[in-house]
Amino acid sequence: MKEALTYGSYLKLEELLSLQAPRSVGEHDEMLFIIIHQVYELWFKEILHEIDYCCRLLEQDDAHRAQHTLKRILTILKVLVAQLDILETMTPAEFLTFRERLESASGFQSDQFRALEFMMGRKVRASLERFPEGSRARTELQRRWGTPTLWDAFLHYLAREGHEVPPTQLARDVTAPIEASPDIQKILVEIYRTNPKSSELCERLVDLDEGIMEWRYRHVKMVERTIGAKMGTGGSAGSKYLRTTLNEPAFPDLWEIRTQL
Ligand code: HEM
Repeated sequence: MKEALTYGSYLKLEELLSLQAPRSVGEHDEMLFIIIHQVYELWFKEILHEIDYCCRLLEQDDAHRAQHTLKRILTILKVLVAQLDILETMTPAEFLTFRERLESASGFQSDQFRALEFMMGRKVRASLERFPEGSRARTELQRRWGTPTLWDAFLHYLAREGHEVPPTQLARDVTAPIEASPDIQKILVEIYRTNPKSSELCERLVDLDEGIMEWRYRHVKMVERTIGAKMGTGGSAGSKYLRTTLNEPAFPDLWEIRTQL
C-alpha cells in the first residue's frame, strides 16, 4: 500500500537534513556557515523561478502580475540581506577555526548567483567557463546565456504597449551588457509622467536592482569585518575585488532619468 504523505516525506526532510557535512572536526561554527549558504542557494533557486515567471508574464502583457512577482522577489531579497546579520555573529576568530577547510571553495562559484546576474543582464563569459563542460551548472548557465534578460522582456513589453522602442534595442544582442540609451530614457520619462501602470513596474525594477546592490554592499562589509584585506578562498583579492562590483546598476536607464523627473 502506498504510504501516506507526511510533512517529512513531502519536504524530503531525511535527505535535506543529511546534507550538512562540516569538514572540520568539533568546530562549532561551521554548521552555521553551511546552513546559511544552503539557505541562500534555496532562495536563489526561488528567485530564479520567480524571475523566469516574471519574464513570461511580461511576454503575456500581464503587467499587474509581473509587478506582483517583482514585489515577491524584492521581499525575498530583503530576507537575504537581513540574513547576513546572522553570519555577522560569527567573529573573525570563529571563522578561522574552519576557514582553511574550505580550500578553494567560495561563493564565487555559486552558479545560481551567476544565473541571477545573467537574468539581470550581467553576462560575463568567464562566469560560465568556470564550470566544467557537461556539469549541471555549465549547462544551465549556457542555456541562460542566450536567454533574453528581464530588461529585454521589459523593453518588448513597452513596445507592445505602444512606446517607440528603437528596433535596434528590440533586436539587441542579449548576451551584451545593458548600455544606457537616451532613446529609452525619453520613453521612461514619458511613462513616469503619464502612465501610472508602467511607472509602477519601473519602480519595482528599480527596487530589484537596488536590492541586489544592497546585498553586494552588505556582503562586502561582512567580508571586511570577517577577513579584512585577506585574499578570498576563491582566489580573488577578496574585499578589494568585491568593491569593484558595487554601484553598477543593472538597469542604468532607470537610474539616469531620476534627475529629469
Ligand atoms: C564569513 C562569510 C563570508 C566570507 C568571508 C565571504 C567572502 C567572500 C570573498 C572573499 C569573495 C570574493 C571571491 C573569492 O575570492 O572568494 C566572495 C564572493 C562571493 N560570495 Fe561570499 N563570503 C561569505 C559569505 C557569503 C554568503 C553567506 C554568501 C551567500 C550565498 C556568499 C556569496 C558570495 C557570492 C555570490 C560571491 C561572488 C560575488 C561576485 O563575484 O560578485 N558569501 N565571498
